[in-house]
Order: sequence, then structure tokens, then C-alpha cells
Amino acid sequence: MNKSVKKIPSPMKASSVFPNGFEADFLGSDAPAIQILNSLNTGVIVCNHSGEISFANAYASKILKCAQKDIMQSRVERILLPIEDIIESVQGDAQDRTRQEKNIQLKNGEEVTIGYHLSEVTIAGGNQGEHSQFVVTFQDITKWNALHRDRDRLLRIATVGDVLPTILHELKNPLAAITTAVEVLIEEVEEIPAKESKALLQAILGEIRRMKLVFEGIGSSHRELRSPTMMAVDEAIREAVSVLKAKAKSVGIVLSCAVDNMPPLFLDTAVVRAILFNLLSNAIDACRSGDEITVKAGLKKDARSFELIVRDTGCGMPKSVQAHCTELFKTTKPNGSGIGLSLCQNTVSAAGGTLHIVSEVNRGTCIKVKVPLND
Ligand SMILES: Nc1ncnc2c1ncn2[C@@H]1O[C@H](COP(=O)(O)OP(=O)(O)O)[C@@H](O)[C@H]1O
Ligand SMILES: [Mg+2]
Repeated sequence: MNKSVKKIPSPMKASSVFPNGFEADFLGSDAPAIQILNSLNTGVIVCNHSGEISFANAYASKILKCAQKDIMQSRVERILLPIEDIIESVQGDAQDRTRQEKNIQLKNGEEVTIGYHLSEVTIAGGNQGEHSQFVVTFQDITKWNALHRDRDRLLRIATVGDVLPTILHELKNPLAAITTAVEVLIEEVEEIPAKESKALLQAILGEIRRMKLVFEGIGSSHRELRSPTMMAVDEAIREAVSVLKAKAKSVGIVLSCAVDNMPPLFLDTAVVRAILFNLLSNAIDACRSGDEITVKAGLKKDARSFELIVRDTGCGMPKSVQAHCTELFKTTKPNGSGIGLSLCQNTVSAAGGTLHIVSEVNRGTCIKVKVPLND
């Protein structure tokens, strides 16, 4: 623990910062350091290893809706969080100390979310000699979290809006094929042999499955990539590619796919398809007639990770575009939304995976999604 303990350097010696050796009686003190702490727009609470609070600044009082003096007579677990959690967190990995958050109930019954950071400082002097104290700096992030939720909700709505024209287009072809097949069946049901009728019915079923696939893609924008049940990811990828093959072909792009046979995986096929849908849509946008797109998928490193690669020979990205292309709302297209890659990146990162982009102007782009598989 002591490695991370900061010593307060002189001239900010703690004995002068906190008169009376932390005896919590410095409200109204005009010591410059106290004035500085009280002018911060961040809550600051200092407590000892038993959880007794020795200092709270003015902003802590504002966030917690409780008088500074009352906070200072309280214990940290009654105001913020259990002292055991603070000790564990401070003694743990330094990274764990950043950006922690917790819902707490204020004295007036109101629930707020606080984001906090913990550190330990060694205080020299005062009545207790050299001893260490915990410092909790915190903010009320309730509104910020609500904004985040709103943003995510808008993002989902926008995603549906973004893919809607493509989806409608994708539904047109299967609907036309179904209509023709049903018309043939109605008109010639008495004349055509049973074998042919069955083939037509199977063709209809195939088209209905394609439509289902497209609808699934829309429904998956709020789901997680990992799934509690095992699913046939390889089949899902092949199906998704076949849905977009017609679109690619219509603009002279050759779309091919090499998907290894894989055992069922703990991944949600609807989400895998949605990622592929976004990557392939971008690749098609980047290509012109004569260009090629290849989709590869398989397991790597003794089946410890799943890999999906979409490579195109399209226009590629300059470095300045590539550096920001996964950021939300970053788009270079006149009617683009800048949502697709951001969504892919977020979904893959949330599952502990990576999205790696290699791109060269006029040569093309290769995007590799890698997701570790849990045993
Ligand atoms: N395969 C690709 N080839 C070239 N540029 C790409 C490719 N994929 C993504 N990009 C770039 O990244 C930007 C962001 O993509 P995306 O988030 O899907 O939003 P949108 O497609 O709406 O523009 C695109 O506008 C484009 O400039
Ligand atoms: Mg896109």
C-alpha cells in the first residue's frame, strides 16, 4: 500500500493545511489551503483508516446536501462508502481507483450517483504524528449518467433510421420472389407435379428466412455480443453474406466469403450479423464496379478467440479519416450518419474484443474483429 502513498510536500504541509492535526474543527478557518479546498468544484472528503471523517470541503456539502460540520462528525460509510471498500480499492491495482461510481442515498432520501477517485496521503505533524489518511474526491454524476442513457437510446433509434432504407431495399427482393412463387402455385397447382410444388414452397421458405434475418439485424442494436446460449455463428455469417450478395452484385462488386465450420459459440448471432451488416455496408459504399469484398471468419489460437474479417479493394481511408472513423457521428458521406463503426467498436469492446483497421487510399480497407471466447 505504501508505494502509492503520497506525501504532502511542503509548503503544503498537512499540519498547516489541517490545523489541530485533523481535529475537524477548522470550519471557518481562513488557512489558505482550506480556502482553496473549499473553492473546488469537486467534493473532497478525508477520513482515517477507521472511517472517521476529518475534513469535508464546501462542495462535498453541496453534493451530499448536508452541512459541512455534520459530515465531519460522521463516518464515511454513513455518508459515502464502506471504509473496507476504500481500503481494498486503494491497496488494489492503481487502475481500479479511477472512474469508480456508486449509487448512494442522501439523508433526505434522494438517490444520486457519485463518480469518485480514492487516494492515500501521509500527513506529517499534528497531534498524531505521521499517519496516513484517505482522500475521496467525488462528483454527482446522476445527470451525466442520465444524459448517457438518453444518448444511447437516441443512438439506437438513429441506427434503425440509418439502416431502414437498406432494410426496405433488402426486403423488396424476397417479397418479389415470394409473390411470383405463390402466383405460380395458385395458377398451376393442379397441373404441376408434387415435386415441383414442394421445391416452390421450399424457395418461399428460403425467402421468408432471409427476411427474418434482416429483421433480426434491426432488433439487435441494443443487445450484447455475448450470449448465454451457444449459437451457430458460421451459418449466421454465411446467411448474412448471401443477403448482401445481391446488393453487391447489382453494382458490379464481387462479394465472396470463406467461413470456417465452427462449433456453436457463446455469441449472439443477431449481433454478429448486425456487425457484419455495418462492415459490409461500408465496404460496398467504398467500392466501385469491379472491386472485390471478401468476408472471412473462423476460430484462432486453439479456438480461444473468434475472428471476423471484412476486406475490400475500395477507395480506402486517408490517415486523418482512419484516426477518427470509429468515433460517433464521424462520417465522410453526404448522407452518412457516422454511427455504424462506432456501434461495432462499442459492441466488440464491451465483449472484451478488438476492432482493428488497416486502410490505404486507393488500395482498400481491411477490418478485423477479434473476440476472446470464454471456456
Ligand atoms: N471499408 C471502408 N472503406 C473506406 N472508408 C470507410 C470504410 N468503412 C468506414 N469508412 C469510413 O468511416 C466513416 C464512418 O463509418 P460509419 O461509422 O459506418 O458511418 P457512415 O457509414 O454512416 O459514414 C465513413 O464515413 C468512411 O469515411
Ligand atoms: Mg456505415
